[in-house]
Amino acid sequence: MAALLGADRLTAVAETGAGTGPVTRALLDAMPAEGRLWSFEIDPALAAGLRERFDDPRLTVVAESASEAPRIAREAGLDGFDGIVSAIPYTLLPRQTTLELLDAQRRALQPAAPLVLIQYRPEYIVPFLRRMFGRFERHFYPWNVPPGFLFRVRRAR
Ligand SMILES: C[S@@+](CC[C@H](N)C(=O)[O-])C[C@H]1O[C@@H](n2cnc3c(N)ncnc32)[C@H](O)[C@@H]1O
Repeated sequence: MAALLGADRLTAVAETGAGTGPVTRALLDAMPAEGRLWSFEIDPALAAGLRERFDDPRLTVVAESASEAPRIAREAGLDGFDGIVSAIPYTLLPRQTTLELLDAQRRALQPAAPLVLIQYRPEYIVPFLRRMFGRFERHFYPWNVPPGFLFRVRRAR
């Protein structure tokens, strides 16, 4: 996900659905020294675990929903994030929540900036991505357990 995002070239990245932090680790490893990462995790216990696990001044753990990403970007003085990675399990959520979360992440991006998602049931997310972003790229990633599909979309210019 970090490689598909191009995290090594980005300085203001958000991650949504950070969990215990495997993607957080990969992003921090890839990002430049002057980069900053905002990792959103809605579960307060998992967010606390992320704060304990990572001692990195580039990381801000946000114990709030990804729906708050546009506000967090504004409060950080950003026009938008350079890129977002998302591991939220959209298939388990009501359709309206999926729409709202994808819309919030789209609005939190700078124009043309990428959003990379990992999903396990591509047939669920594809119609949302078509409707909200138009074009999308799809990659199969067999090394994940379970094997996953990575999608990359971009905010319109
Ligand atoms: C499948 S886990 C992914 C964890 C980790 N990124 C990984 O790859 O192992 C999904 C995470 O998304 C979090 N989550 C669900 N809805 C969220 C939301 N609206 N905003 C932020 N995090 C959310 C869950 O609490 C959970 O930790």
